[in-house]
Amino acid sequence: MKLNEKLYKKLNEQVKHELESAYIYYSMVSYFSAEGLDGMAQWMTAQAQEEIMHAHKFFNFIHERGVKVELQNLEILKTNWKSPLEAFKDALAHEEFITGKINDLMKLAIEVNDYAAKVLLDWFVAEQVEEEGSVGKVEQMLRRVGDSANGLMMIDRELGKRVFTPPPSEGE
Ligand SMILES: [Fe+2]
Ligand SMILES: [Fe+2]
Repeated sequence: MKLNEKLYKKLNEQVKHELESAYIYYSMVSYFSAEGLDGMAQWMTAQAQEEIMHAHKFFNFIHERGVKVELQNLEILKTNWKSPLEAFKDALAHEEFITGKINDLMKLAIEVNDYAAKVLLDWFVAEQVEEEGSVGKVEQMLRRVGDSANGLMMIDRELGKRVFTPPPSEGE
């Protein structure tokens, strides 16, 4: 089935949004590393790697449908934050922005009866619930500890446990 032109444009744009997410999160990794918050840096590195995997999924889907992805310039960059809390607030706002994009894509896929795109997007709808959930949880923990250095160190240690595991299909 030929990919609808409008849907193609939006999917192509989503490749950019996912790479942009990785870019933003890597910027946060730099910030955390410079602050000596290695656990947070590791958590955010895993987050960035997941975003690259997301970009990959859209990338592959477009190519499988026989069209070419047109990469675009990445906009940003914020390179500094006042506190880990501010960074995680930005990360949460960004995930909410992405959820909106996924929902728009889903609406369009349904509109043009592209069931294959819908299956791809089903995965992303569920993924965004997880993404908002995990980022939101850290944001909530950070809000709770406030300025406590001990609290921050505890969260940092906790976040350092996260590792990125590539899904089997991406590791081939
Ligand atoms: Fe993503
Ligand atoms: Fe995400």
